[in-house]
Amino acid sequence: MYPNQRFRRLRTNPAMRSLVSETSLSPNDFIVPLFVVEGKNVKEEIASMPNYYRFSLDYLSKEVKLLWKMGLKSVLLFVKVDDQLKDNAGSEALNPKGLMQRAIDTVKQATPEMLVMTDVALDPYSKYGHDGIVRNGVIENDSTNLFLAQMAVSHAKAGADMVAPSDMMDGRIKVIRDELEAQSYYNTGIMSYSAKFASAFYGPFRDALDSAPVDIKDIPKDKKTYQMDPANRKEAIKETLADISEGADIVMVKPGLCYLDIVRDIANEVNLPVAVYQVSGEYAMIKAASEKGWLDHDAVMLEQLLAIKRAGASMIASYFAKDAVQLL
Ligand code: PBG
Repeated sequence: MYPNQRFRRLRTNPAMRSLVSETSLSPNDFIVPLFVVEGKNVKEEIASMPNYYRFSLDYLSKEVKLLWKMGLKSVLLFVKVDDQLKDNAGSEALNPKGLMQRAIDTVKQATPEMLVMTDVALDPYSKYGHDGIVRNGVIENDSTNLFLAQMAVSHAKAGADMVAPSDMMDGRIKVIRDELEAQSYYNTGIMSYSAKFASAFYGPFRDALDSAPVDIKDIPKDKKTYQMDPANRKEAIKETLADISEGADIVMVKPGLCYLDIVRDIANEVNLPVAVYQVSGEYAMIKAASEKGWLDHDAVMLEQLLAIKRAGASMIASYFAKDAVQLL
């Protein structure tokens, strides 16, 4: 005897399935991470991120125009800094004519309505590849925060709409918010990487920016004293609530796929938009498996993005943004 309730009735055909579908993806959901380098006419493919590039400013300008046409309206900028400009404090980050500051301007000139978010962290500028100032083998918290606040103001001055601190120092959202207010950047938002885990999935990104922690005696070789332990769940809520109380406008969980339980916890707990960063290693895995013919690239990509959304993401920073939007 069969039950009267047959779930397959609602799966009969595509029209029925789309009618009852609970989650969908749209271009509005995406933040496009972009890697910027010095030079002219540079479009270099990142070895561990097939079909993803570092752009010089002239190419950046073309790229954001294309993104805008596709309906992608937010970018998140990262810069690859020349080695000779790196030091322990990340001083180059405050250069008003620095690569990040010029990149912000380039995007605003090319696509005035594009939402420009910027990475606020020391690691691309740090000769040690750390997100904070290193002293006596320790990543200093409070002195790093003061520096990050200056960096945020410098980005705001250059025209950034939102700053995105990705460092995981304690209390940095408050220090950054206070400094933005003090300098009258009331409307510059903060998207905080609030639950960022010490993940092995960041490898390809560190290749892209040449920003991996260095292997030098007495310098920590990983980021485990500031990024979160992947074993921890409750701590992600604590971190996120703290960032909200300090003034974050958007909170973030990072990486994506391995942390969807955290995404759901946070989405249930807070009433701010929750961003998820589908990181470089997640991108690389899909590219590699599909190059081998082992997975269907587009199907797996859309399934993962949908799963992130279903878990509670209000938006997704993803290297697949363009690929996905072309299929939607
Ligand atoms: C560093 C930063 C990282 C990413 C974004 N900002 C790497 C790290 O923490 O070492 C990773 C993004 C990715 O892997 O796609 N401030």
